Amino acid sequence: MENIKAILDKALNTHLLNKGEIITLLKSDDELLFEYADEVRQKFKGNEIHLRGLIEFSNICKCYCKYCGLRCENKEVERYRLTKNEIISLAKNGAELGYKTVVLQSGEDSYYTTDLMVEIIKEIKKFDLAITLSIGERNYEDYKAFKDVGADRYLLRIETTNPALYKEMHPNMSLENRLNCLKNLQKLGYETGSGILVGLPNQSIKSIADDILYFKENNFDMIGTGPFIPHPNTPLARAQAHLDNFKVSLRVMAITRLLLPDINIPATTAMETLNPNGRIIALQSGANVVMPNITSTEYRAKYYIYPNKICLNDSSDKCRNCIEAKIKAIGRNISKTKGFRSDKQL
Ligand code: 5AD
Ligand code: FES
Repeated sequence: MENIKAILDKALNTHLLNKGEIITLLKSDDELLFEYADEVRQKFKGNEIHLRGLIEFSNICKCYCKYCGLRCENKEVERYRLTKNEIISLAKNGAELGYKTVVLQSGEDSYYTTDLMVEIIKEIKKFDLAITLSIGERNYEDYKAFKDVGADRYLLRIETTNPALYKEMHPNMSLENRLNCLKNLQKLGYETGSGILVGLPNQSIKSIADDILYFKENNFDMIGTGPFIPHPNTPLARAQAHLDNFKVSLRVMAITRLLLPDINIPATTAMETLNPNGRIIALQSGANVVMPNITSTEYRAKYYIYPNKICLNDSSDKCRNCIEAKIKAIGRNISKTKGFRSDKQL
């Protein structure tokens, strides 16, 4: 108990922790971690919550990630791809609903060539929106082309930094390439986001501590962490939970807030899947961002990355109103700015 408080006080004052201290915080049940993370969030990010409208524009994916429902070997999922005009019109609708950022997310789908993505980004920039891309691994030239026409941010979770676990989870992919993609994004001046899955089979607390140290070393601008939720049509369908995935995800998020006090941290949708109040709990434990879905209802259910995703039958304006009410109920406000990491907050 004393020990936990001493570690938390050190983190509060220096924003530095060693691996042993991180492991102690990850293993403990002490709720004090969340209070400290909430305090650091308040001090560095204030009361404002940034909403990012999420557009899931294609569920077609060439990857084999063992945990993911969109993996190419899953024949049960009905695949879809939105046209350029459909994507632009969802973004416009997002702007009309008051979003300042849209997140364009898809599987790794090469149908969306460099040129096509460039056209989409250019059109969406006309709505005075910040654009976050989340479309997986591409080469340097692609990332540069998207940046040159106005893409602001990029999300690419590392998922795990443990080489053996990474290899096991991602057939046909390389950890080295993923690390390199993240370096390229940073070099190009994107606000760069990463993050991990918590509770993958054989994932140890020690390796999660290494992941957190990796976030700190690379000074990412955003970190999204979510619990692994087994999907029935994947090789991990019957994976047994060996951690309390919700609680440990929350602890990873809170520790990340202590070490990187001014970054943007989302309360992730997967947390709400495991706990009906998951996003609000996360917002009170270090998070300052929510990413409501603004995909049309007809496609939401098909973007079936993991089971029991929330809001599958809800409309974009319903989600907007719902989350707004919940945020106001805990005494926080919705930001009217684009919410870059470097923006002056207070
Ligand atoms: N459970 C929880 N999250 C998952 N993701 C992929 N599959 C699952 C799953 N079964 C996450 C990955 C990816 C993000 C878009 O979704 O971390 O980066
Ligand atoms: Fe979608 Fe609450 S956020 S209904």
